Amino acid sequence: MNSRAIGIVSTGMYVPSQVVTNDDLARYLDTSDEWIQEKVGVKERRRAAAGESTSDLAVAAGLQALDKLSIMPSDLDLIVVATSSPDMIQPPTASIVQGKLGACNAAAFDVGAVCAGSVFALDVAAGLMLSHPDYRHVLVIGAETYSRILDWDDRTTCVYFGDGAGAAVLSDVPQGRGLLHSVLGTDGLKWDAITLLGGGSTYPASEDSVRNGLHKFRMRGKDIWTFATTTVPDAIERALARAALTADDLDFIIFHQANINIIRENMGRLGLPMHKTHTCMDRYANTSGASVLLALSDAIEQRKIRSGDLVALVGFGGGLSWGVSLWRWA
Ligand SMILES: CC(C)(COP(=O)(O)OP(=O)(O)OC[C@H]1O[C@@H](n2cnc3c(N)ncnc32)[C@H](O)[C@@H]1OP(=O)(O)O)[C@@H](O)C(=O)NCCC(=O)NCCS
Repeated sequence: MNSRAIGIVSTGMYVPSQVVTNDDLARYLDTSDEWIQEKVGVKERRRAAAGESTSDLAVAAGLQALDKLSIMPSDLDLIVVATSSPDMIQPPTASIVQGKLGACNAAAFDVGAVCAGSVFALDVAAGLMLSHPDYRHVLVIGAETYSRILDWDDRTTCVYFGDGAGAAVLSDVPQGRGLLHSVLGTDGLKWDAITLLGGGSTYPASEDSVRNGLHKFRMRGKDIWTFATTTVPDAIERALARAALTADDLDFIIFHQANINIIRENMGRLGLPMHKTHTCMDRYANTSGASVLLALSDAIEQRKIRSGDLVALVGFGGGLSWGVSLWRWA
């Protein structure tokens, strides 16, 4: 047994104020409110204001999580930001967040695992707390401004996503509480299921990549469906088995807010009723690496999670990557 138990002791969230409805998109795109609600479960999404960056969203969510705990940014030992829409390729968005927060004692870095980002970042942060006994408070943030990286003329991608941020503070909790077990996975043979070029590849020079649309944000939706409804529930079962638990033991489960139909399908596969999960993609859409922490914070705000509950956090998406972590709520 580890000498420390690490748990989520506070959460926060932030979404920009501008609302973009499905009808707003249907005004210029060959789509409809009906299709988007039926196939994705989104009614509206938020869009960052001009001058509002991923780091600004991250700072707002982070401050809310710190305020609830009454700890100062200078009390933080580490900041980990999950994002796939960073302010810049360099420096890490976490550095900018550290500077804006004035978290002068915190090391800071980004985790890139796209829509599984929040769950990967929580796992990395908890692991570092175990190997650094002097780390007392770690801030984990998922933040995205997909409105700036989407192809707004591609109806097969742009209708899914929104801007937002979620945050969690990790600290010591009583033994038996906090992070119990986790499973992380990647299928790199399917890396091209969701893509957007960075600056370090040769793809722009290739005619094939341009023809295949790799120079813009692209997603093979049906491949994601297959992955999300087979690999992901298997990973949940594996994480539960490692903790000698079953799906029946789960009090609550937060999924990446990819798509309402994926969540319904997976709750069915696990034999769990829908009231044991929380969805906010109808209001905020898929906020990629932010979505698990944003949905968690929203669920806690609505008092859906109580002390002692067994909670699963489930992230999945580009990579293809997936992460499942099990927490006994502190
Ligand atoms: C993509 C997905 C919605 C397709 O569902 P489906 O029930 O198999 O879809 P259908 O075959 O009925 O519809 C696909 C059609 O809708 C069209 N379509 C795609 N986006 C559309 C939109 N925004 N509005 C209207 N039509 C759209 C497609 O062009 C396709 O048309 P075609 O058959 O003429 O080529 C489903 O596989 C899915 O949910 N995948 C997961 C995607 C996801 O969650 N991504 C987030 C990843 S983190």
